Amino acid sequence: MAPLSGVTDLAFRLMSREFGAKLCFFGMLDSNALTHSHPGTKRLVKTIKKDSPVAAQLVGSDPSVMLDAAQKLMSLADIQFLDVNSACPAKKVIKKKAGAYLLKDPVRLGKILKKLSSNLSIPVTVKLRTAFNGIGLKDTLKLARISQDSGASTVFLHGRTVSQGYAGDVDYASIKAVKDALKIPVFGSGNIFDPVLAKKMFDETGCDGILVARGALGNPWIFRDIERYLKNGNIAKKPALSVKKKALKKHLFLIDKYSLISPSHKAGFMGKVAMWYLKGLPDASRIRDGICRIKSYKELNGLIDGIRLRDGRHLSVPVIFHR
Ligand SMILES: Cc1cc2nc3c(=O)[nH]c(=O)nc-3n(C[C@H](O)[C@H](O)[C@H](O)COP(=O)(O)O)c2cc1C
Repeated sequence: MAPLSGVTDLAFRLMSREFGAKLCFFGMLDSNALTHSHPGTKRLVKTIKKDSPVAAQLVGSDPSVMLDAAQKLMSLADIQFLDVNSACPAKKVIKKKAGAYLLKDPVRLGKILKKLSSNLSIPVTVKLRTAFNGIGLKDTLKLARISQDSGASTVFLHGRTVSQGYAGDVDYASIKAVKDALKIPVFGSGNIFDPVLAKKMFDETGCDGILVARGALGNPWIFRDIERYLKNGNIAKKPALSVKKKALKKHLFLIDKYSLISPSHKAGFMGKVAMWYLKGLPDASRIRDGICRIKSYKELNGLIDGIRLRDGRHLSVPVIFHR
């Protein structure tokens, strides 16, 4: 399971693991926030015994601050490895010379990786994009080689440029070129939305593994489905509405049980999660309207219980009003 900021909380990871995810990440963690013991950090690294193996990803730009942050992080959670984010396209991150900015500053990236890999007892990895705007394959290969030479033990490569954001074609050829050039494992990321696309990533690039990202939103079955398809070519049937409702209710239960987000934000977050599971159903827009009016976990559960298929096709959706 890929790192997804604001998504891959403990509840999300437990659901992913139940359906076959082999390893999960916390969402990206800010190195400055960690070094200043920002109270929000504790919420982001909340874990339990069952939530293993888990990895963490740091975003930052200063090698010494990153090391300090990594050491704090390792005192808070038992992580398998630490990833350096060199892929985040958010303007506020790039402005601080972090995230995808590091694609344009291989020397800084190399220093960060060297500092971490030579001082930490766990493996250090890096998540790259294929390019910043306009940089070609030659630069991507240089960046990948610098990562390897600076101590990265795996490269996670999102096959899109920074200017592409999350849209557009995945550049399988560049992932393959990086895989062929490196000795360390290379994982492909991008458009892993179903088992066929997962196989395509392996076939086109020869990569050692894949990261499932948006394909897992409201679809924890994707991990099991990919594994089965890769083993025997069987395409799993789409889960029935009753199966989706059951999984969604479990996911919400786990949020209610474990999430440390403030009660005022909890209902809104649960509504977002519910829409991941329910989108694509007939009448999804009416369901969304209903969910927008929800004020509590209990109300949301009631709304989900009331969603039924009529005539095998149409949904009946309970409408919730507030005075
Ligand atoms: C909501 C969201 C949050 C993300 N957060 C992170 C993150 O914290 N760290 C990271 O390296 N990539 C992050 N990504 C990128 C994903 O890990 C992944 O590389 C990207 O979505 C491409 O995969 P996909 O096309 O299969 O979704 C995020 C993507 C999305 C959509």
